[in-house]
Amino acid sequence: MKEIDILGKTFIPYIAFEEIEHAIINMANKIYEEYKDEVPVFVGVLNGVVMFMSDFLKNYPGQCEISFLKLASYEGTASTGKVCVQMDIPVSLEGRHVIILEDIVDTGNTLVELHRILTEKNVKSLKIATLLFKPDAYKKDLKVDLIGLSIPDKFVVGYGLDYDGYGRNLPDIYQIKSY
Ligand code: IMP
Ligand code: MG
Ligand code: MG
Ligand code: MG
Repeated sequence: MKEIDILGKTFIPYIAFEEIEHAIINMANKIYEEYKDEVPVFVGVLNGVVMFMSDFLKNYPGQCEISFLKLASYEGTASTGKVCVQMDIPVSLEGRHVIILEDIVDTGNTLVELHRILTEKNVKSLKIATLLFKPDAYKKDLKVDLIGLSIPDKFVVGYGLDYDGYGRNLPDIYQIKSY
């Protein structure tokens, strides 16, 4: 891994895939322990969740269903604070055990909105699992049930995460270089 340039910004290698994968295996096993007698629905939040969700599912040993929704909240490296649904879940989640899968929880704006949207779908239970969490940026009271890796309040790209649409295909995670 070496420094990369995206739209004139420099990003430095930060979390290698091996460490990401290790965190994901732990998450999958923890969730399985809790849901092994159920068939949970994993709801992925597009687009950022693509890599995390596929590796998570490959390591989830039980039966499950999957669904997706798409939200938008971010432009560049600063949150706009506004969240809107771009693509809703096309099936009923009524009476289901739902686990939200997120790539990253930053301020928590997106998560609170997501939680509200899914609660309205009359689910049986609702939990939140995120690969990355920025504790210093988080501003909400809502409990994040499962965290893969906690990171400082610095912008990261790769492994599904983008900087203005770029960098999602990087297999590892990079952190913005501060001077
Ligand atoms: P929040 O609403 O502030 O918690 O931000 C949630 C969304 O912002 C995430 O789902 C990401 O799409 C995006 N985001 C937050 N932090 C980062 C980052 O460090 N890199 C890339 N995207 C981020
Ligand atoms: Mg996103
Ligand atoms: Mg996300
Ligand atoms: Mg983004």
